[in-house]
Amino acid sequence: MTILSRRPDEQTTEHDEPVQHSPFEPVATTARYRAPRATIDPDKEKTWLRRAMPIVLSHKKMFITSLVMSFLALVLQVQIPKLLEEAINNSLVARRVPLSHYVTIVFILAVIAGIAGYISRYFLMRTAYEMEFDLRNIIYTHLTKMSFPFYDRVQSGQLISRANSDIRSVQMYLTFAPSILVQCSVAVVAFGYMLSINVPLALVAMIPMPFVYLLGIQMRKSIFPVSWLIQSRLADVATIVDENINGVRVVKSFAAEQRELTTLGKAADRLQWAYIKDAYIRAKFTPTVQNLPQIGLALVVLFGGWLVVHGELQVGAIAAFSLYIVMLQAPFQMLGMIIMMGQRASASSQRIYEILDEVPTVVDRPGAVDLVDCTGDIHFESVNFSYSPDNPLILDDFDLHIRPGETVALVGRTGVGKSTVARLLPRFYDATGGRVVIDGHDVRDLTLLSLRASVGIVLDEPFLFSTSIRENIAYGFPNADFADIEAAGNAAGADGFIRELPKGYETVVGERGYTLSGGQRQRIAIARTLLVNPPILVLDDATSAIDVQVELTIHGSLRKLMEGRTTLIIAHRLSTISLADRVLLMDAGKIVADGTHAQLMETVPLYADVLAQGEEELEIRAEEARAAAAARAGLDGHDAGGPL
Ligand SMILES: Nc1ncnc2c1ncn2[C@@H]1O[C@H](COP(=O)(O)OP(=O)(O)O)[C@@H](O)[C@H]1O
Ligand SMILES: [Mg+2]
Repeated sequence: MTILSRRPDEQTTEHDEPVQHSPFEPVATTARYRAPRATIDPDKEKTWLRRAMPIVLSHKKMFITSLVMSFLALVLQVQIPKLLEEAINNSLVARRVPLSHYVTIVFILAVIAGIAGYISRYFLMRTAYEMEFDLRNIIYTHLTKMSFPFYDRVQSGQLISRANSDIRSVQMYLTFAPSILVQCSVAVVAFGYMLSINVPLALVAMIPMPFVYLLGIQMRKSIFPVSWLIQSRLADVATIVDENINGVRVVKSFAAEQRELTTLGKAADRLQWAYIKDAYIRAKFTPTVQNLPQIGLALVVLFGGWLVVHGELQVGAIAAFSLYIVMLQAPFQMLGMIIMMGQRASASSQRIYEILDEVPTVVDRPGAVDLVDCTGDIHFESVNFSYSPDNPLILDDFDLHIRPGETVALVGRTGVGKSTVARLLPRFYDATGGRVVIDGHDVRDLTLLSLRASVGIVLDEPFLFSTSIRENIAYGFPNADFADIEAAGNAAGADGFIRELPKGYETVVGERGYTLSGGQRQRIAIARTLLVNPPILVLDDATSAIDVQVELTIHGSLRKLMEGRTTLIIAHRLSTISLADRVLLMDAGKIVADGTHAQLMETVPLYADVLAQGEEELEIRAEEARAAAAARAGLDGHDAGGPL
């Protein structure tokens, strides 16, 4: 049973050739997705577009191919009205050239333009989605690097949902703006052809175009604020729905479904109002924008007809012009659109950059060394700590020495800073002053990977993933043998109830493990940390929800596990404290008493007070847990199973 002894350093790999690795493997050793080839330019002085350029350039082959193909297709299409003109003049009016000559050319041009159009469109969409994928990966990768203080500050749910629409608008602009510019350049070519046929007629045909452009801008201007409104109201509705689903147990326990529905109804009404407003504006503008060019057509027929009657123009030109006018319309409309898209993309990119410019605070310092063969000697040397500069000091000149292999209980009133002490060990936060030293190394001189592999921490509110219990226990050591997983489950007193579940270790726990009781979740969390077999173990209120009887049954195995490793137990309960060799009492940012339980009971009145208060709180918590379990069983219509 390797779990009770340290894991052998020599790990056998499936590869035959010797691989050079660090002895500390991150949980995921291989990336499942292709990493983005580029990231944004870190120079904050540059414009948003220049900062995004590396991402666009990393797709340049496909993107440029797409633009070239699009240009080719459009240039070919521009030839068609001209051919039509010649066909009418030379084959129908003058009967000099057989009509089949033009039909063949038009057919060939149309086929080539079609193929080019297909390639251009496919590559453009691929570029767009690949850039979207890259942006998402870049943001997500960045978020995983961020440290705890960042997550204390931001609302992570908002962060992700906002990122989605921002990524979309940046991606749209980066891909579609160049493509629209290509279309506009072809419009210039078309206008050149019109001029070459007849200058006055070309100018007359263009009369409505500035109006198309201005109206397009006007339309976007009216729609723009409304579409922002739609975005933010969609997010509101999503937040309400999300909270109601995640917080369904609270909602139902207060029988507040009706009130929540009313809140949702109001948000949905506001969203609907914005959508209707949007439809109204579009309905008002679209017919005008689309039909304005028909006026151009009328002008062409009128003025062109007059020219034909007076023998100054051949009749085929009128047909060619009417086709050109239709071709010119789209670029004029879209020109207004790029400006709006640009404004939106600029605002979106600022929000994305805000996240990406945030620097992780807890990182490996250059030249950081691995913590190898950790003996578990811990020193807090005059540590000061506060969560942010304007918060009070939680640890104030805090000194503590824990010897290798010692089991120490840390006791103190709620909110005194016990969990904070625990969080400084694996560098969830860095000390504001003083040093935290493990085996003679300042923790800031060690690699995070080796440090966190050496410090196993079990929290009182354990987070479980919605996978099987086996996978949850193996989270920190995914290649573990099943025998080791079972041994860890056994040592944490979880094996018994797991076996009683319908599928045993393969039972999938509901979201965040809600199908299990608090005590069951805690035992799985303990097993998860034990499997990693860390030389330093921190149990932060990790057994608070486990029944005293159940806890006593696992004391034997816990004691055995604590042998040979340094253990810090944060607890309120006397039975848990009894596992420790030494008890430390914390108050006002310092250790105020240090000794055995019996010594402290005799000499320190505060200790007895804290213990009494702790027992009381535990009673209340246990009561709450029982009530919650009963409510859950009632709601789900079946029992959660197993003892608490
Ligand atoms: N992430 C955080 N950001 C700001 N303040 C915090 C944070 N976590 C805890 N605190 C504050 O620090 C103090 C100590 O908290 P904690 O170490 O959790 O206490 P304990 O574990 O002893 O109950 C409390 O006053 C708490 O409000
Ligand atoms: Mg705590």
